[in-house]
Amino acid sequence: VFSNLKSQPADALLELIALCREDTRENKIDVGVGVFCDDQGHTPVMRAVKAAEIQLIHEQNTKSYLGSAGDIEFFLRLIPVVFGNDFKDHERLSGLQTPGGTGALRLAFDLIHAGNPNADIHYGNPTWVNHLQIIANTGLNSISHPFYNREKRQIDFDAVLDDLKQVKRGDVILLHGCCHNPTGCDFTFDQWKALSEVISQKGLLPVIDLAYQGLGDGLEEDVAGLRWLSQQVDEMIVTYSCDKNFGLYRERTGAIFVLSQNAESRKIVQSNLIASTRTHWSMPPDHGAAAVRIILENEALYDSWQTELNAMQQRISGNRQSLAKADSYFAPLLQQKGMFSILPLSPEQIKKLRIENAIYMAPSGRINVAGLTPTTIDPFVKAIQKVI
Ligand code: LMR
Repeated sequence: VFSNLKSQPADALLELIALCREDTRENKIDVGVGVFCDDQGHTPVMRAVKAAEIQLIHEQNTKSYLGSAGDIEFFLRLIPVVFGNDFKDHERLSGLQTPGGTGALRLAFDLIHAGNPNADIHYGNPTWVNHLQIIANTGLNSISHPFYNREKRQIDFDAVLDDLKQVKRGDVILLHGCCHNPTGCDFTFDQWKALSEVISQKGLLPVIDLAYQGLGDGLEEDVAGLRWLSQQVDEMIVTYSCDKNFGLYRERTGAIFVLSQNAESRKIVQSNLIASTRTHWSMPPDHGAAAVRIILENEALYDSWQTELNAMQQRISGNRQSLAKADSYFAPLLQQKGMFSILPLSPEQIKKLRIENAIYMAPSGRINVAGLTPTTIDPFVKAIQKVI
């Protein structure tokens, strides 16, 4: 059997993590994988998470199975975080806990494949590389449309709209809820409104990947567009990750939310999600979701989490400002949100930066702005200035 296998290319980001880890140079600068770093370059366990974990250790008296939907209270407590306190569509909302946002994406595309294997998935180019791998693995077809104007380093919104007007009814549009990965270019609220109009007119199914809530402009601000869209459409999927906004990366904590037409379809969707879960991972890991649930249940922990998240968001914005102040080459970063931005560098320049300056960034030129610290910003800017 194994002699028939073909060797698979390594995932570029995972490869980068390994390369950076192996580099023993003390001055290395890791702006590769998307993890938040503090001023010392550490990715801390958030204070509220630590407190919730301690509480969990004391209170938890069994490790028995929870079931395919995972921690249901975790899921229910996330609903107002995503959809707002005044959300009223519970009777048509299904969903469950997943292993990270990736697990949620896998379930989303499985569900779409089960409902309509001929649906094309439209995505703005570029998108998170793993999106395309997951879509391909489910057997669905993906089609890119222009999204990012490389010269202007901003969204080409007219091109996005024009393209959407051409797609066939029943197709799927994959959108980033906020803090676009890899470009950092988010739709304005007015653009979300215009998109919502086309999506609802054309009867498209939006899949919103929400992996960075709170790291753009704030918890509420970052989902204003998503909430607007959710009120204009009959069907919608949100894939959620707690990796970044709860700093739970390795705990694999996420959720899928599916809005369907009515209570009847909700039941069918939920049964499909459960069936799909069962064949993938059967039941999701508990620890991260239990910690998030404890935070969302407890006012003091919630406030602590929000305060720390706001500070993280401000650190990222501060880094964007410092870069733009240092060199106008970085000025477009001021219009972008969240951890990422794409620098217009060639593969040779990116390689040179790695070899000569121990600077690690994704092969696309994507940098994780949150990876820079007060100590590394200056050498980073100087190295870029040299290479350009
Ligand atoms: C990233 O884009 O850097 C993160 O989402 C990590 C990953 O799994 O790719």
